[in-house]
Amino acid sequence: MQHDDPDSLKPGTRLVTAGRPHSAGRGIVNPPVMRASTILFENVADLRAASRNPDAGLYYGRRGTPTQWSLADALTELEPGAGGTMLYPSGVAAISAVLLALLDPGDEVLMVDSAYEPSRVNCNTLLRRLGITTRFYDPLIGAGIADLIGDKTKVIFLESPGSLTFEVQDVPAICAVARAHGITTVLDNTWATPLLFPALASGVDISILACTKYVVGHSDVMMGSATATPDQYARLRRTAMQLGQCVSPDDAYLALRGLRTLGVRLRQHEEGGLTVARWLAEQPQVAHVLHPALPGCPGHEHWKRDFKGASGLFSFVLRGGDEKAMAALTDGLRLFGIGFSWGGFESLALPVDPASIRTATRWEADGPTVRLHIGIEEPEDLIVDLAEGLKRFESALG
Ligand SMILES: Cc1ncc(COP(=O)(O)O)c(C=O)c1O
Repeated sequence: MQHDDPDSLKPGTRLVTAGRPHSAGRGIVNPPVMRASTILFENVADLRAASRNPDAGLYYGRRGTPTQWSLADALTELEPGAGGTMLYPSGVAAISAVLLALLDPGDEVLMVDSAYEPSRVNCNTLLRRLGITTRFYDPLIGAGIADLIGDKTKVIFLESPGSLTFEVQDVPAICAVARAHGITTVLDNTWATPLLFPALASGVDISILACTKYVVGHSDVMMGSATATPDQYARLRRTAMQLGQCVSPDDAYLALRGLRTLGVRLRQHEEGGLTVARWLAEQPQVAHVLHPALPGCPGHEHWKRDFKGASGLFSFVLRGGDEKAMAALTDGLRLFGIGFSWGGFESLALPVDPASIRTATRWEADGPTVRLHIGIEEPEDLIVDLAEGLKRFESALG
Protein backbone atom coordinates (compact mmCIF):
# COMPACT_ATOMS: atom_id res chain seq x y z
CA MET A 1 0.00 0.00 0.00
CA GLN A 2 1.67 3.15 -1.17
CA HIS A 3 0.17 6.32 -2.63
CA ASP A 4 1.96 7.38 -5.81
CA ASP A 5 1.66 11.12 -5.02
CA PRO A 6 1.58 11.62 -1.22
CA ASP A 7 2.09 15.40 -1.62
CA SER A 8 -1.37 15.63 -3.25
CA LEU A 9 -3.02 14.33 -0.05
CA LYS A 10 -4.22 16.51 2.80
CA PRO A 11 -1.97 16.29 5.93
CA GLY A 12 -4.60 14.37 7.92
CA THR A 13 -4.64 11.65 5.26
CA ARG A 14 -0.85 11.62 4.91
CA LEU A 15 -0.61 10.96 8.68
CA VAL A 16 -2.40 7.65 8.13
CA THR A 17 -0.46 6.42 5.10
CA ALA A 18 3.01 7.91 5.71
CA GLY A 19 5.89 5.52 6.28
CA ARG A 20 3.81 2.38 5.79
CA PRO A 21 5.64 0.83 2.80
CA HIS A 22 8.20 -0.73 5.19
CA SER A 23 5.51 -2.98 6.69
CA ALA A 24 3.53 -3.45 3.47
CA GLY A 25 3.38 -6.81 1.74
CA ARG A 26 3.03 -8.77 4.97
CA GLY A 27 -0.42 -7.53 5.92
CA ILE A 28 0.76 -5.90 9.15
CA VAL A 29 -0.56 -2.35 9.58
CA ASN A 30 2.19 -1.20 11.97
CA PRO A 31 5.86 -2.01 11.43
CA PRO A 32 6.97 -4.68 13.89
CA VAL A 33 9.60 -3.67 16.46
CA MET A 34 12.81 -4.98 14.92
CA ARG A 35 15.62 -4.86 17.45
CA ALA A 36 19.08 -5.37 16.02
CA SER A 37 22.72 -4.59 16.56
CA THR A 38 24.32 -7.35 14.45
CA ILE A 39 22.92 -7.97 10.99
CA LEU A 40 23.98 -11.33 9.58
CA PHE A 41 24.93 -11.72 5.92
CA GLU A 42 24.68 -14.93 3.89
CA ASN A 43 28.35 -14.79 2.98
CA VAL A 44 31.39 -12.52 2.86
CA ALA A 45 30.57 -11.32 -0.64
CA ASP A 46 27.19 -9.98 0.58
CA LEU A 47 28.89 -8.32 3.58
CA ARG A 48 31.42 -6.65 1.28
CA ALA A 49 28.63 -5.49 -1.05
CA ALA A 50 26.72 -4.00 1.91
CA SER A 51 29.92 -2.21 3.07
CA ARG A 52 30.18 -0.52 -0.31
CA ASN A 53 26.61 0.83 0.01
CA PRO A 54 25.66 0.77 3.70
CA ASP A 55 22.61 2.99 3.13
CA ALA A 56 20.91 0.49 0.82
CA GLY A 57 19.27 -1.64 3.52
CA LEU A 58 20.01 -3.54 6.72
CA TYR A 59 23.68 -3.12 7.57
CA TYR A 60 24.32 -2.50 11.28
CA GLY A 61 21.98 -1.59 14.16
CA ARG A 62 23.15 2.01 14.34
CA ARG A 63 21.77 2.58 10.83
CA GLY A 64 18.33 1.46 12.00
CA THR A 65 15.87 -1.22 10.99
CA PRO A 66 12.54 -0.91 9.14
CA THR A 67 10.97 0.26 12.44
CA GLN A 68 13.07 3.44 12.60
CA TRP A 69 12.95 3.88 8.81
CA SER A 70 9.13 3.87 8.88
CA LEU A 71 9.08 6.74 11.36
CA ALA A 72 11.76 8.74 9.53
CA ASP A 73 9.99 8.24 6.19
CA ALA A 74 6.64 9.22 7.69
CA LEU A 75 8.10 12.50 9.02
CA THR A 76 9.67 13.17 5.61
CA GLU A 77 6.36 12.57 3.82
CA LEU A 78 4.65 15.07 6.12
CA GLU A 79 7.05 17.84 5.05
CA PRO A 80 6.67 18.73 1.34
CA GLY A 81 10.08 19.50 -0.21
CA ALA A 82 12.03 17.27 2.20
CA GLY A 83 14.84 14.93 1.18
CA GLY A 84 14.92 12.93 4.40
CA THR A 85 14.70 12.86 8.20
CA MET A 86 17.30 11.98 10.84
CA LEU A 87 16.14 10.75 14.24
CA TYR A 88 17.94 11.68 17.48
CA PRO A 89 17.63 10.52 21.10
CA SER A 90 16.02 13.83 22.22
CA GLY A 91 15.00 17.23 20.90
CA VAL A 92 18.15 18.79 22.37
CA ALA A 93 20.27 16.09 20.69
CA ALA A 94 18.67 17.06 17.36
CA ILE A 95 19.43 20.76 17.90
CA SER A 96 23.09 20.15 18.89
CA ALA A 97 23.73 17.64 16.11
CA VAL A 98 22.25 19.92 13.44
CA LEU A 99 24.36 22.89 14.59
CA LEU A 100 27.49 20.71 14.70
CA ALA A 101 26.73 19.48 11.18
CA LEU A 102 26.47 23.02 9.79
CA LEU A 103 29.10 25.06 11.63
CA ASP A 104 32.92 25.14 11.60
CA PRO A 105 35.39 27.02 13.84
CA GLY A 106 35.27 30.73 12.95
CA ASP A 107 31.62 30.61 11.85
CA GLU A 108 28.75 32.55 13.41
CA VAL A 109 25.16 31.55 14.15
CA LEU A 110 22.34 34.06 14.55
CA MET A 111 20.07 32.63 17.26
CA VAL A 112 16.60 33.96 18.08
CA ASP A 113 16.41 35.54 21.54
CA SER A 114 13.22 33.60 22.37
CA ALA A 115 14.81 30.19 21.73
CA TYR A 116 14.35 27.24 24.08
CA GLU A 117 16.92 27.86 26.83
CA PRO A 118 19.15 24.78 26.20
CA SER A 119 19.47 25.87 22.53
CA ARG A 120 20.94 29.16 23.77
CA VAL A 121 23.12 27.47 26.38
CA ASN A 122 24.58 25.08 23.79
CA CYS A 123 25.58 28.08 21.67
CA ASN A 124 27.23 29.80 24.63
CA THR A 125 29.11 26.69 25.79
CA LEU A 126 29.54 23.80 23.35
CA LEU A 127 29.76 25.93 20.20
CA ARG A 128 31.86 28.63 21.85
CA ARG A 129 34.45 26.00 22.88
CA LEU A 130 34.72 25.06 19.21
CA GLY A 131 35.37 28.67 18.17
CA ILE A 132 31.84 29.25 16.85
CA THR A 133 30.26 32.56 17.88
CA THR A 134 26.59 33.38 18.46
CA ARG A 135 24.66 36.61 18.19
CA PHE A 136 21.11 36.68 19.53
CA TYR A 137 18.41 38.58 17.62
CA ASP A 138 14.96 40.04 18.28
CA PRO A 139 12.28 37.46 17.38
CA LEU A 140 10.29 40.21 15.62
CA ILE A 141 13.21 41.34 13.43
CA GLY A 142 11.75 39.95 10.16
CA ALA A 143 13.60 41.02 7.00
CA GLY A 144 15.70 43.35 9.22
CA ILE A 145 17.87 40.28 9.88
CA ALA A 146 19.77 41.39 6.75
CA ASP A 147 21.48 44.10 8.84
CA LEU A 148 22.97 41.48 11.20
CA ILE A 149 24.46 39.24 8.54
CA GLY A 150 28.25 39.30 8.33
CA ASP A 151 30.96 37.36 6.46
CA LYS A 152 31.05 34.69 9.17
CA THR A 153 27.29 34.13 9.41
CA LYS A 154 26.53 30.60 8.28
CA VAL A 155 23.31 29.67 10.09
CA ILE A 156 20.15 31.48 11.19
CA PHE A 157 18.28 29.58 13.89
CA LEU A 158 14.56 30.29 14.34
CA GLU A 159 11.98 29.08 16.81
CA SER A 160 8.42 30.18 16.14
CA PRO A 161 6.45 30.73 18.25
CA GLY A 162 9.25 31.36 20.76
CA SER A 163 9.62 29.41 23.99
CA LEU A 164 7.81 30.87 27.03
CA THR A 165 6.73 34.16 25.37
CA PHE A 166 5.36 32.89 22.02
CA GLU A 167 6.49 35.64 19.61
CA VAL A 168 5.61 34.48 16.08
CA GLN A 169 8.48 35.14 13.68
CA ASP A 170 8.18 36.26 10.06
CA VAL A 171 9.75 32.99 8.93
CA PRO A 172 9.29 33.47 5.15
CA ALA A 173 10.91 36.94 5.26
CA ILE A 174 13.91 35.74 7.30
CA CYS A 175 14.39 32.67 5.08
CA ALA A 176 14.23 34.77 1.90
CA VAL A 177 17.04 36.99 3.22
CA ALA A 178 19.05 33.93 4.28
CA ARG A 179 18.69 32.26 0.86
CA ALA A 180 19.85 35.45 -0.88
CA HIS A 181 23.03 35.34 1.28
CA GLY A 182 23.63 31.56 0.98
CA ILE A 183 22.90 31.08 4.71
CA THR A 184 21.26 27.91 6.03
CA THR A 185 18.08 28.30 8.10
CA VAL A 186 17.10 25.95 10.92
CA LEU A 187 13.66 26.14 12.59
CA ASP A 188 12.57 24.56 15.86
CA ASN A 189 9.01 23.74 14.71
CA THR A 190 8.02 21.74 17.79
CA TRP A 191 5.02 23.95 18.72
CA ALA A 192 3.32 23.70 15.33
CA THR A 193 4.64 20.45 13.78
CA PRO A 194 4.45 20.22 9.96
CA LEU A 195 0.67 19.89 10.29
CA LEU A 196 0.18 23.48 11.44
CA PHE A 197 3.25 25.06 9.82
CA PRO A 198 4.85 23.50 6.72
CA ALA A 199 8.39 24.70 7.39
CA LEU A 200 10.27 23.69 4.25
CA ALA A 201 7.51 25.03 1.99
CA SER A 202 7.97 28.36 3.84
CA GLY A 203 11.66 28.53 2.91
CA VAL A 204 13.27 26.76 5.89
CA ASP A 205 16.18 24.38 5.09
CA ILE A 206 16.04 22.18 8.20
CA SER A 207 13.01 21.68 10.46
CA ILE A 208 13.60 20.27 13.94
CA LEU A 209 10.94 18.65 16.10
CA ALA A 210 11.27 17.63 19.71
CA CYS A 211 9.21 14.50 18.99
CA THR A 212 9.11 14.07 22.78
CA LYS A 213 6.18 16.55 22.65
CA TYR A 214 3.33 16.23 20.13
CA VAL A 215 4.66 13.46 17.85
CA VAL A 216 4.95 10.95 20.70
CA GLY A 217 2.03 12.67 22.43
CA HIS A 218 1.87 10.45 25.51
CA SER A 219 4.73 11.74 27.76
CA ASP A 220 6.65 8.47 27.67
CA VAL A 221 9.46 8.76 25.07
CA MET A 222 12.37 11.17 24.47
CA MET A 223 13.13 11.76 20.79
CA GLY A 224 14.09 14.44 18.27
CA SER A 225 14.05 14.71 14.50
CA ALA A 226 15.48 16.92 11.78
CA THR A 227 13.78 16.95 8.37
CA ALA A 228 15.80 18.65 5.64
CA THR A 229 16.05 19.59 1.99
CA PRO A 230 17.90 16.91 -0.03
CA ASP A 231 21.28 18.76 0.11
CA GLN A 232 21.16 19.45 3.83
CA TYR A 233 19.92 15.95 4.61
CA ALA A 234 23.17 14.42 3.33
CA ARG A 235 25.16 16.64 5.74
CA LEU A 236 22.93 15.81 8.69
CA ARG A 237 23.17 12.10 7.99
CA ARG A 238 26.97 12.17 7.84
CA THR A 239 27.29 14.03 11.15
CA ALA A 240 24.67 11.91 12.93
CA MET A 241 26.59 8.78 11.93
CA GLN A 242 29.89 10.34 13.09
CA LEU A 243 28.34 11.21 16.44
CA GLY A 244 26.79 7.74 16.69
CA GLN A 245 23.28 9.14 17.06
CA CYS A 246 20.46 6.63 16.85
CA VAL A 247 17.11 5.81 18.50
CA SER A 248 15.75 2.51 19.75
CA PRO A 249 13.19 0.63 17.63
CA ASP A 250 10.87 0.44 20.65
CA ASP A 251 10.87 4.24 20.95
CA ALA A 252 10.47 4.64 17.17
CA TYR A 253 7.46 2.31 17.30
CA LEU A 254 5.82 4.41 20.03
CA ALA A 255 6.58 7.65 18.19
CA LEU A 256 5.05 6.31 14.97
CA ARG A 257 2.01 5.13 16.90
CA GLY A 258 1.67 8.63 18.38
CA LEU A 259 2.12 10.25 14.97
CA ARG A 260 -0.96 8.49 13.55
CA THR A 261 -3.26 10.45 15.90
CA LEU A 262 -1.38 13.76 15.80
CA GLY A 263 -4.08 15.45 13.70
CA VAL A 264 -7.02 14.63 15.97
CA ARG A 265 -5.00 15.36 19.12
CA LEU A 266 -3.86 18.74 17.83
CA ARG A 267 -7.45 19.72 17.04
CA GLN A 268 -8.42 18.98 20.65
CA HIS A 269 -5.34 20.79 22.04
CA GLU A 270 -6.21 23.81 19.88
CA GLU A 271 -9.87 23.95 20.91
CA GLY A 272 -9.11 23.41 24.60
CA GLY A 273 -6.17 25.84 24.54
CA LEU A 274 -8.16 28.61 22.91
CA THR A 275 -11.15 28.14 25.22
CA VAL A 276 -8.93 28.38 28.30
CA ALA A 277 -6.80 31.24 26.88
CA ARG A 278 -9.87 33.35 25.98
CA TRP A 279 -11.34 32.76 29.45
CA LEU A 280 -8.05 33.67 31.17
CA ALA A 281 -7.82 36.90 29.13
CA GLU A 282 -11.07 38.08 30.81
CA GLN A 283 -10.03 37.38 34.39
CA PRO A 284 -9.12 40.44 36.52
CA GLN A 285 -6.12 38.64 38.07
CA VAL A 286 -4.54 38.13 34.62
CA ALA A 287 -2.51 40.93 33.00
CA HIS A 288 -1.76 39.29 29.60
CA VAL A 289 -2.32 36.05 27.76
CA LEU A 290 0.45 35.13 25.29
CA HIS A 291 -1.22 32.81 22.79
CA PRO A 292 -0.17 33.03 19.10
CA ALA A 293 -3.80 32.81 17.94
CA LEU A 294 -4.93 35.78 20.08
CA PRO A 295 -4.41 39.35 18.82
CA GLY A 296 -2.34 40.52 21.84
CA CYS A 297 0.49 38.09 21.06
CA PRO A 298 3.56 39.67 19.38
CA GLY A 299 3.68 38.46 15.76
CA HIS A 300 0.01 37.33 15.82
CA GLU A 301 -0.32 38.65 12.23
CA HIS A 302 2.33 36.12 11.11
CA TRP A 303 0.43 33.32 12.83
CA LYS A 304 -2.75 34.39 11.00
CA ARG A 305 -0.94 34.51 7.66
CA ASP A 306 1.23 31.36 7.90
CA PHE A 307 -0.25 28.82 10.32
CA LYS A 308 -3.05 26.31 9.80
CA GLY A 309 -3.98 26.26 13.48
CA ALA A 310 -2.71 26.38 17.04
CA SER A 311 -1.47 23.76 19.45
CA GLY A 312 -2.10 23.76 23.20
CA LEU A 313 0.89 25.60 24.70
CA PHE A 314 0.76 29.25 25.82
CA SER A 315 1.59 31.51 28.76
CA PHE A 316 -0.20 34.04 30.90
CA VAL A 317 1.12 36.86 33.08
CA LEU A 318 -0.44 37.46 36.46
CA ARG A 319 -1.38 40.98 37.58
CA GLY A 320 1.12 41.67 40.34
CA GLY A 321 2.06 39.16 42.99
CA ASP A 322 5.21 37.25 43.71
CA GLU A 323 6.49 33.68 43.55
CA LYS A 324 4.56 32.81 46.73
CA ALA A 325 1.23 34.10 45.40
CA MET A 326 1.83 32.28 42.10
CA ALA A 327 2.60 29.06 43.97
CA ALA A 328 -0.75 29.41 45.78
CA LEU A 329 -2.33 29.21 42.32
CA THR A 330 -0.25 26.41 40.80
CA ASP A 331 0.32 24.14 43.79
CA GLY A 332 -3.37 23.57 44.47
CA LEU A 333 -4.32 22.72 40.87
CA ARG A 334 -5.94 19.30 40.59
CA LEU A 335 -5.98 18.73 36.83
CA PHE A 336 -2.66 20.41 35.91
CA GLY A 337 0.60 18.67 36.73
CA ILE A 338 3.70 20.72 37.61
CA GLY A 339 6.59 19.57 35.46
CA PHE A 340 8.72 20.05 32.37
CA SER A 341 7.94 19.12 28.82
CA TRP A 342 4.54 19.34 27.10
CA GLY A 343 2.66 17.87 24.13
CA GLY A 344 1.26 14.87 26.01
CA PHE A 345 -2.44 14.19 26.56
CA GLU A 346 -2.36 15.85 29.99
CA SER A 347 -2.42 19.46 31.14
CA LEU A 348 0.61 21.06 32.78
CA ALA A 349 1.41 24.35 34.55
CA LEU A 350 4.96 25.66 34.84
CA PRO A 351 6.27 28.91 36.40
CA VAL A 352 8.70 30.56 33.96
CA ASP A 353 11.02 33.57 34.07
CA PRO A 354 11.77 34.82 30.54
CA ALA A 355 13.47 38.02 31.82
CA SER A 356 16.41 36.06 33.23
CA ILE A 357 17.14 34.39 29.87
CA ARG A 358 16.96 37.21 27.25
CA THR A 359 19.98 39.18 26.09
CA ALA A 360 19.03 40.87 22.77
CA THR A 361 15.62 42.05 23.96
CA ARG A 362 14.06 42.96 27.28
CA TRP A 363 11.13 41.09 28.78
CA GLU A 364 9.07 43.06 31.26
CA ALA A 365 5.91 41.78 32.92
CA ASP A 366 3.41 42.99 35.52
CA GLY A 367 3.77 39.82 37.58
CA PRO A 368 4.88 36.19 37.50
CA THR A 369 4.43 34.24 34.26
CA VAL A 370 2.90 30.76 34.05
CA ARG A 371 3.16 28.51 31.01
CA LEU A 372 0.21 26.17 30.46
CA HIS A 373 -0.04 23.09 28.32
CA ILE A 374 -3.68 22.28 27.68
CA GLY A 375 -4.16 18.54 27.28
CA ILE A 376 -7.15 16.72 25.85
CA GLU A 377 -9.35 17.07 28.96
CA GLU A 378 -12.65 18.95 28.62
CA PRO A 379 -11.72 22.67 28.84
CA GLU A 380 -14.69 23.44 31.14
CA ASP A 381 -13.14 21.24 33.85
CA LEU A 382 -9.76 22.93 33.42
CA ILE A 383 -11.41 26.35 33.75
CA VAL A 384 -13.04 25.39 37.07
CA ASP A 385 -9.60 24.27 38.34
CA LEU A 386 -7.93 27.51 37.19
CA ALA A 387 -10.75 29.68 38.60
CA GLU A 388 -10.15 28.17 42.03
CA GLY A 389 -6.40 28.75 41.52
CA LEU A 390 -6.93 32.43 40.69
CA LYS A 391 -9.00 32.83 43.87
CA ARG A 392 -6.13 31.32 45.89
CA PHE A 393 -3.74 33.74 44.12
CA GLU A 394 -5.98 36.69 45.05
CA SER A 395 -6.16 35.60 48.70
CA ALA A 396 -2.37 35.23 48.79
CA LEU A 397 -2.01 38.83 47.53
CA GLY A 398 -3.77 39.91 50.74
C1 LIG B 1 10.68 24.24 21.88
C2 LIG B 1 11.46 23.07 22.37
N1 LIG B 1 12.45 22.60 21.61
C3 LIG B 1 13.20 21.56 22.01
C4 LIG B 1 12.99 20.95 23.21
C5 LIG B 1 13.89 19.83 23.65
O1 LIG B 1 13.29 18.59 23.51
P1 LIG B 1 13.75 17.35 24.44
O2 LIG B 1 13.13 17.60 25.78
O3 LIG B 1 13.20 16.17 23.72
O4 LIG B 1 15.24 17.34 24.49
C6 LIG B 1 11.98 21.41 24.05
C7 LIG B 1 11.72 20.76 25.37
O5 LIG B 1 11.00 21.26 26.20
C8 LIG B 1 11.19 22.52 23.62
O6 LIG B 1 10.23 23.03 24.40
